[in-house]
Amino acid sequence: MWNRRLAPWTAVGLLLFLLLAGCSQEMRDDARIKPMEASLLFPDGQSARPLPANVVPRDGYDLSDPLYTGLENGQPIATMPVPLTAELLQQGQRQYIIYCSPCHGLDGYGDGMIVQRGFPSPPSYHSDRLRRAPDGHYFDVISNGFGLMFEYGSRVPPADRWAIIAYIRALQLSQNAAADQLAPQDLEQLHGSE
Ligand code: HEC
Repeated sequence: MWNRRLAPWTAVGLLLFLLLAGCSQEMRDDARIKPMEASLLFPDGQSARPLPANVVPRDGYDLSDPLYTGLENGQPIATMPVPLTAELLQQGQRQYIIYCSPCHGLDGYGDGMIVQRGFPSPPSYHSDRLRRAPDGHYFDVISNGFGLMFEYGSRVPPADRWAIIAYIRALQLSQNAAADQLAPQDLEQLHGSE
């Protein structure tokens, strides 16, 4: 006789049996190649495939190249090793606003929103010392942090770090340009506002 109370348990038991039976087909029995094992599939006879050209390892930049450290022989490089373009500045502006302006402020005076709420104030980019500091110093500070400032190397990739530095230079110039560096229309505007 079919026992009504036992029926659900029989169903559960059957399900468990099927599940466990399924587990016996383990992945370790599948045909596959061990790391570094030879393979007939590729002409070079190796199963390990070489990296495609121009691949940059996510966390393994060539640290002997100033492009990824800002340093040469341990010293900060004077000027950035990437060409300055309008696109680079725009990219730098976007990244600066996201990553730096909360503390350094939109114009770089060190009075960003977090600082207004009590975070220690960073130095102004418009001090003589930071105006004169080499580009490589900025790169190093972004990559590794500086004093109270945490590192942004894990969040901002090298190309964006140079873009940010280009934008900081533009900010510095915006607050400290000699009149003869200005375009005629800017000079006109300047005189017009006097
Ligand atoms: C959370 C706040 C904060 C953020 C965000 C931040 N900084 Fe800073 N930064 C600081 C503080 C605070 C100092 C001063 C640290 C000290 O002197 O101990 C500082 C110092 C610096 C200095 C000066 C180093 C020197 O020689 O005195 C540079 C350059 C700098 N930051 C660049 C950046 C850039 C570029 C970004 C964005 C990628 C950034 N910071 C994001 C807080 C911040």
